[in-house]
Amino acid sequence: MISDAAYSLRPALERNLAATPEPATEESHARPIPRVNIQAFCEDQETASVIQKAFEDRRLSKAHVTLQMGGVEAAVAFYRDASTPNLIIIESLLDRVEMISDLERLAEVCDPGTKVIAIGHFNDVLLYRELLQQGISEYVVAPLKVAQVIESISSVYTDPEAVPVGQVIAFIGAKGGAGSSTVCHNTAFAIAGTLENDVVIADLDLPFGTAGLDFNQDPLQGIADALKSPERLDEVLLDRLLSRCSDHLSLFAAPAMLEQHCDVDASACETVLDVVRENVPWVAVDVPHLWAAWAKEVVLKSDHVVITATPDLASLRNTKNLVKHLKVARPNDRPPLLVLNQVSLPKRPEISVKDFTHAVELESKVVIDFDAQLFGTAANNGQMIEEVSDKSKPADAFRSLADLLTDRSEQKSERTSLLGPVLDRLRLMIARA
Ligand SMILES: Nc1ncnc2c1ncn2[C@@H]1O[C@H](COP(=O)(O)OP(=O)(O)OP(=O)(O)O)[C@@H](O)[C@H]1O
Ligand SMILES: [Mg+2]
Repeated sequence: MISDAAYSLRPALERNLAATPEPATEESHARPIPRVNIQAFCEDQETASVIQKAFEDRRLSKAHVTLQMGGVEAAVAFYRDASTPNLIIIESLLDRVEMISDLERLAEVCDPGTKVIAIGHFNDVLLYRELLQQGISEYVVAPLKVAQVIESISSVYTDPEAVPVGQVIAFIGAKGGAGSSTVCHNTAFAIAGTLENDVVIADLDLPFGTAGLDFNQDPLQGIADALKSPERLDEVLLDRLLSRCSDHLSLFAAPAMLEQHCDVDASACETVLDVVRENVPWVAVDVPHLWAAWAKEVVLKSDHVVITATPDLASLRNTKNLVKHLKVARPNDRPPLLVLNQVSLPKRPEISVKDFTHAVELESKVVIDFDAQLFGTAANNGQMIEEVSDKSKPADAFRSLADLLTDRSEQKSERTSLLGPVLDRLRLMIARA
């Protein structure tokens, strides 16, 4: 059920010896950085503030980081009496010749295992090549972007041959019963169907999870077994614990039994999700509606967060709090995606979509009407909405959410644009001219 082929994701940093590395876009899918010591010595205040922001990113939460000013001079003086860390980030304002000789002085006080990322102010291919020959891991040119710093650090610890890491999507409800699990399962189903990429649904609602019911599965083993002994989880065991729902969709089911206690350990959860994302490109995590330490950590460390809310006051307050909290805790990530669900329930007074999104300061790209017949049929049959009615509006909504999460919406709108053929002909004419 897990495809053997390495799936295609943007590599952490495109290495190109013939040119200075391209600055990364603001959003980054870099791998989390292991428990290493990183020390930065900056010259420029602006560079220092970008590095400081990168150091506060969720992907560096395990690393021990320090930042000082003074560049190479300060670093050389510091390491005369201190041992060097796993990684030094060093900034220099000097040109090629002076920078190379400065870094040679740094090399003299560096322990053999220490890696170095150099930040310079000259976009000089020759300098880049010489630095790599000197054993410098990366050379990046200021002004920097936060995502670029994270990706450069991550690339030092990523084996270029390694299988790329999958992306984790956390689905959380603004209040109990908002429909978060329904949105999670249907969106995962759409990603598996349209992308034909492997997706695993991890149901973390251990006592009450509905993923098994929704896919008409009743597996004997599942996520609770992995969480009990996370250190044993590898590709082979994972394959045994997953149950297959469709060609590309597998389920890490919750036991939904009340005999065993269901406390979740935050680090066990992180280990399990790390193993899953090493093996599958997309992990849809069904997070129960609670804010325990482990659940909070899952949400904060995910690549994407989807909040499902109903158009009422409690959902509005909770969504507003969640959006605010995520913005502070994940400053370098996209804001969460908001799904307004169970909208237009007959006779129920509701907060309008416009007022809701205005109050939470977040656009809702996906609005799903209340449809008792369709959702009730799907739930009772153990089917997805698309299987019950693939032309329905909710099925469309789940497909667009899948496109948004996997960044396919822009490509799609370009493909389906009415001007597409005209633009193609124009491009052809220009190319021939
Ligand atoms: N748009 C909708 N129209 C009608 N019913 C819906 C809709 N969305 C979800 N439901 C139904 O609402 C119920 C609750 O959905 P679901 O279990 O997905 O919510 P949840 O947010 O995960 O709840 P919990 O807090 O228990 O985890 C289910 O019976 C589901 O079929
Ligand atoms: Mg749920």
